[in-house]
Amino acid sequence: PPTLHSPPLGRHPLNNGSVHRMTQNTFELVDRASDRKMSLPVRPASIGPSVVDISKLNKELGVFTYDPGFGMTAATESRVTYIDGDAGILLYRGYPVGQLAEKSSFMEVAYLLLHSELPSRKQLDEFVSSIRHHTMINESLLRFFHGFHYDAHPMAMISAVIASMSAFYHDTMDIYNPRHREIFAHRIIAKIPTIAAAAHKHSLGQPYVYPRNDLDYCSNLLHMLYAVPCEPYEVDPVAAQALDLLFILHADHEQNASTSTVRLAGSTGTNPYAAISAGVAALWGPAHGGANEAVLNMLEQIGTVDNIPKFLEQVKDKSSHVRLMGFGHRVYKNFDPRAKIIREMCHKVLARLGRSDNPLFELALRLEEIALKDEYFIERKLYPNVDFYSGIIYSAIGIPRSMFTVMFAIARTVGWVAHWQEMLGDPAMRIGRPRQLYTGPTQRDYLEIGRR
Ligand code: CMC
Repeated sequence: PPTLHSPPLGRHPLNNGSVHRMTQNTFELVDRASDRKMSLPVRPASIGPSVVDISKLNKELGVFTYDPGFGMTAATESRVTYIDGDAGILLYRGYPVGQLAEKSSFMEVAYLLLHSELPSRKQLDEFVSSIRHHTMINESLLRFFHGFHYDAHPMAMISAVIASMSAFYHDTMDIYNPRHREIFAHRIIAKIPTIAAAAHKHSLGQPYVYPRNDLDYCSNLLHMLYAVPCEPYEVDPVAAQALDLLFILHADHEQNASTSTVRLAGSTGTNPYAAISAGVAALWGPAHGGANEAVLNMLEQIGTVDNIPKFLEQVKDKSSHVRLMGFGHRVYKNFDPRAKIIREMCHKVLARLGRSDNPLFELALRLEEIALKDEYFIERKLYPNVDFYSGIIYSAIGIPRSMFTVMFAIARTVGWVAHWQEMLGDPAMRIGRPRQLYTGPTQRDYLEIGRR
């Protein structure tokens, strides 16, 4: 392609009636005025839309692209997870999430996300055994919790304690050593339930409960959350099974805000525990993982079915800044497949726990039904997302509301680690460093304070 050095703005090819043409391998930009052409390579996807590679755009045309919220930008090539937002499809390493939810386990899905393939029996046993044997945390880390007030939000506590892990595992962590990366992966996946449970115990003022390596991943978490030293505690298998399934559904979701945060922080070469801590912080927000907690607050605020129309009027009034929490998604313009599975699961779990007459679930079902018939939601293609029903199950199995997003963080840690690993192994990896459209003042001279 001809080399185009930055011409003055008015005559810029992209400002001057440019046209484009897409072929299978190239995206051609043609400046009508000067008849100059530039070909950008098109990179094919294994499924889903191809992308135009704009990495040479500035060098050739002297422009950057503007994409608030990165809605149109593929920041990386990835082989972990695929979403078709229009069809409502979610694949982990090619496997439909519905099949994994039905047939697999969270530990097997964790192995799949980390290693690209489903494990053999031996590989799975070794992986599970390694995770089980990394569950304890340093006693000094446990003492960090004493620094928090009893009502500190658990997401704040776990983000801080995970960041502190970088102080414990820094000198021994070479991010370019695959074995070190693997040890990190096993440690963080194994220890995050212990940290999460300690945060919960701290807010209750109860003693921390040590992990039990004879229990499976989710049973061990439930035991650490609910057991007390003065009496035996039996884990409810219905609760453990429900948690395992929810963890499968939350394990990864390609380049979402928290995963992109982990990638961005990790791209600087920072300690990976610090990068995961940044991911936890990003997940906490109500537009992301914090929505599960916000949904139950919203349902309680609505109270009864009669109040739904009034609430939806508020949602539609943009000046109220009220959103229907658990609805809408950047990528899904159809049903989030995870929401469908969780709604189904709500019926089963509530029935098995003997709590079929759950008023909040009934209210959520009616709210979904009414919203899906409303022109506002139809026009904008807003459907229930993963967070709409998950809180109902968490509540039913006794997880306190402030811990909902922590549950999400435990599961998503697997995805964060898989993406961090993938990024470090990618020869195209560069520090993540977006550009900007500067609209501030042009250069001006400093004025002494007395002359302003
Ligand atoms: N309630 C009311 N209006 C909404 C909602 C909602 N939940 N979601 C989107 N809209 C409207 C929005 O106001 C906008 O309308 P208009 O075109 O008139 O300005 C239009 O739909 C497009 O929305 P957007 O904000 O441009 O969409 P986005 O892709 O930037 O945001 C989202 C996606 C998930 C942040 C947003 O849908 C939202 O805030 N949902 C509620 C919070 C939520 O449930 N978050 C969990 C997401 S799934 C799990 C996860 O990521 O952790």
